[in-house]
Amino acid sequence: MNQDVLLALSYIVASVLFIMSLRGLSSQETARRGNLYGMIGMALAIVATFLDGRVDAYFMLIPAVAAGALVGIWLAIRVAMTAMPELVAMLHSFVGAAAVLVGMASYLGHSEGPHDVVHLIEVYIDIFIGAITFTGSIIAFLKLRGSLSGRPLLLPGRHLLNLALVLGSIGLAIPFVGGEGATGLVPMLIMTGLAGLLGIHMVMAIGGADMPVVVSLLNSYSGWTAAAAGFMLGNDLLIVTGALVGSSGAILSVIMCRAMNRSIWNVVFSGFGAQAGVAKPTSDGDGPTEIFEIDVDGTVAELMQAKQVIIVPGYGMAVARAQHAVRELTNLLREHGARVRFGIHPVAGRLPGHMNVLLAEANIPYDIVLEMDEINDDFAETDVVLVIGANDIVNPAAKTDESSTIYGMPVLEVWDAKRVVMMKRGRSAGYAGIDNPLFYLENTRMLFGDAKATVDSLVTELRQQAQAEAA
Ligand code: TAP
Repeated sequence: MNQDVLLALSYIVASVLFIMSLRGLSSQETARRGNLYGMIGMALAIVATFLDGRVDAYFMLIPAVAAGALVGIWLAIRVAMTAMPELVAMLHSFVGAAAVLVGMASYLGHSEGPHDVVHLIEVYIDIFIGAITFTGSIIAFLKLRGSLSGRPLLLPGRHLLNLALVLGSIGLAIPFVGGEGATGLVPMLIMTGLAGLLGIHMVMAIGGADMPVVVSLLNSYSGWTAAAAGFMLGNDLLIVTGALVGSSGAILSVIMCRAMNRSIWNVVFSGFGAQAGVAKPTSDGDGPTEIFEIDVDGTVAELMQAKQVIIVPGYGMAVARAQHAVRELTNLLREHGARVRFGIHPVAGRLPGHMNVLLAEANIPYDIVLEMDEINDDFAETDVVLVIGANDIVNPAAKTDESSTIYGMPVLEVWDAKRVVMMKRGRSAGYAGIDNPLFYLENTRMLFGDAKATVDSLVTELRQQAQAEAA
């Protein structure tokens, strides 16, 4: 078979595998398989590209791919689940840098005759989006890592500055397309600088807590830049893969925004999170302030009586790495005859599917892990709800307080249960930085402490009580 036909066939198979991978990743039962399809597709794409007749610099390619693979494997093994968004942000910066370098190489490597205008436009778009992705992702990485403050940088006239950078970049396309050699190179380099500045400034103006949405948005940009590189290099697989990443990243960003009842414009341009971490009263601040505490013994006494239990995990469970202890607790409660289910909010934690991944890692059966819409009507028939390190996703102000910043966000209506036990370290606010009226309700009990330590104590105490009861 002709080598070109073989290459085209391999690219088609790889594209189909990437589509099947995305399909698989849409549910936790099939996610493993989805991942496998993606890995096979990528391996096939790399091998096919290696064997492409136009590729000959193996002495550079093989060490580069081997070194990249080793660093990738090392990072993936070491990364904690909570640090996943920052790793992804770092990886996107590589895609952006690659796009800029490939665009420049494609421009500078052109030796015969004048440049084709369409090709020049492809190069320009590729470098523009690539530079924004590169610098924006580095800022997102530094913010998520805590090396840069999470507070949004709100310069006066910041929207005008963004507009000037965009218009400047568009304007420089004219001398770039019209110029040859060095006359085209200078506007291209200036535009790269402007686009890099735009990436830095846009992400600096977004609060640290919105970084997961920004990472998903940058993921989308990295896809579009790869697609632009595909057009530039005449590589169909890169076009298909780039379009898949670009569109799925954009859809994911919109889904995350919807689940927070915010628009993508609000996330990118509003400077939300200027007050992150500071608990502000949800309305005028004259509501109740008294809370009712409970200890481990008291909670176990309630759990021993409970027939219906719902566990609502949140960001604090992830930080405390309490998921394995939660599985032990679940097993003990089920052995004791309680019906235990999990209620998962679509934006619980800090990344899409965060809770599902952690619960799956702890081998909690999928069939007792329910989405918010599937479980919200069942709280009224529930004896005990254990809220483990969650806050905003169970905040009743989202339904009742029109002045609240999270008003309209769909939430888990845990307060309908007979007893709500909130497990967290203190009275701190969650991501949205607002007070939670759930703390002060009559049927709520606050169980203070680190989620892992508290769940461990619950497990020990519950086991003893259950054994004593059986004896
Ligand atoms: P949060 O509202 O952020 O609340 C987490 C709570 O966990 C905090 O109030 C904190 O209180 C507690 N906590 C922290 N460390 C703990 C530990 N070691 N042990 C026990 N508790 C601990 O989390 P949530 O309810 O999961 O809501 C997620 C929020 O993130 C939403 O507002 C959502 O819009 C936002 N968000 C999510 C995503 C995605 S995709 N998931 C993306 C962007 C934004 P203490 O400090 O008092 O312990």
